Amino acid sequence: MYPSKNTTNDRRRFLGLLTVSGLGLTAVPALQAQENSVIERPLVDSPPVLQCPSETGITVVWAVGKPATGWVQFGTDQEKLDQTAFGEENGLLPYHDRFLQIRLSALKPNTQYFYQTATASFKYVNAYKFERGEPEFSSVYSFTTSGAGKENGSFSVINDTHENQKTLKLLTERLALLGSDYTVWNGDLVNSVENADQIVKAILRPAHSPFAAEHPLLFVPGNHDYRGNWSRNLELALPRWELNDLRDRETSRNFAVRTGSLALIGLDTGEDKPDQHPAWAGLAKFEPYRVAQRDWLERALNKPEIASAPFIVAFCHIPIFSSNPKANGGNVLEGFASFQRQAGNLWGPILTKHGVQLVVCAHQHRFHFDPATPERTWAQVVGGGHNDKEQVTVIHGHTNSGKLELIVDELRSGNELGRWTFEKRTT
Ligand SMILES: [Fe+2]
Repeated sequence: MYPSKNTTNDRRRFLGLLTVSGLGLTAVPALQAQENSVIERPLVDSPPVLQCPSETGITVVWAVGKPATGWVQFGTDQEKLDQTAFGEENGLLPYHDRFLQIRLSALKPNTQYFYQTATASFKYVNAYKFERGEPEFSSVYSFTTSGAGKENGSFSVINDTHENQKTLKLLTERLALLGSDYTVWNGDLVNSVENADQIVKAILRPAHSPFAAEHPLLFVPGNHDYRGNWSRNLELALPRWELNDLRDRETSRNFAVRTGSLALIGLDTGEDKPDQHPAWAGLAKFEPYRVAQRDWLERALNKPEIASAPFIVAFCHIPIFSSNPKANGGNVLEGFASFQRQAGNLWGPILTKHGVQLVVCAHQHRFHFDPATPERTWAQVVGGGHNDKEQVTVIHGHTNSGKLELIVDELRSGNELGRWTFEKRTT
């Protein structure tokens, strides 16, 4: 007689027996094993998350719960999604058990598009035999490409969420109300990057919200996002920017995007300790990376679409300025950076030279604002944290009537922490 098929119940019984009698462990791990064994993930495991937007392209990322392929149907008429992006790369279509990523390209600037994702389970039995499921379609969402003719721009910033789902619920609800062109997630999305399930839960479906299905996410890495044994896979969920210029290969986490009269610049401060710190065991080289970003920043600020922007706002996780002469600049082995001295020294003068008005930071888990000075053209604002003792903030800005207005909201109290107005650049 053949053994019976390994049904879920059989598997649960088997795991229970193995754990208790086979390995001699207690009944508690047996229960955990049983629970793990019955986790049945849905085929589509997150809403789409739009990323890496340009005037003519955008990347759609979503999570799947089992091996699958997928594609995106899109068009300018909500009733007729007559174009398809298949995401082919070197002849192969996407196939993954947790993440799908499709780039839409050759889009028209300043145009509204409608789209939906299609996901089909796909199981290889052998090289000539496979099982393919019927496609499952998402809701229809829309986004608008940037481009000439768009007058005003806006952004919202969240930061230091550290996987806190309660905080993420507050934040994503506020983001939905604000409806800014872009959401900047300014680092420390997680505590350390450990596995795919964690990333899906914390980043692609925070509080089960379709937070970036219509307004693209701009990811800025924090020091915690570089830690953990899975951190080098983060780009499965958070793709790097396209490498049009070979010199940008080293800096593909940096971005320079335009929306209306606003240009937004993404910089990466990296770890909050020196490269030679024992915690990195010789596996870090953030110091030369910050130098490479100085050169990228100069190139980015000279691009015509950025140089012509009346307002330029830069984003980086660790503040690059401190008025406290005793503050830890991240260049000593003791403690950790409250600001990034090397980045401030390298990037600060370039930001001033180009008349950048504002730098938006995070990391300190406490709201703070430093106004510009005659020597430093840029103000620096720091967002809050995520736990019960900290202020949970959304920083948001928009241009209107030739001015940039910046507002910081505290979400638990509902209080506005500050509001500032910036004039057009003169540089
Ligand atoms: Fe941080």
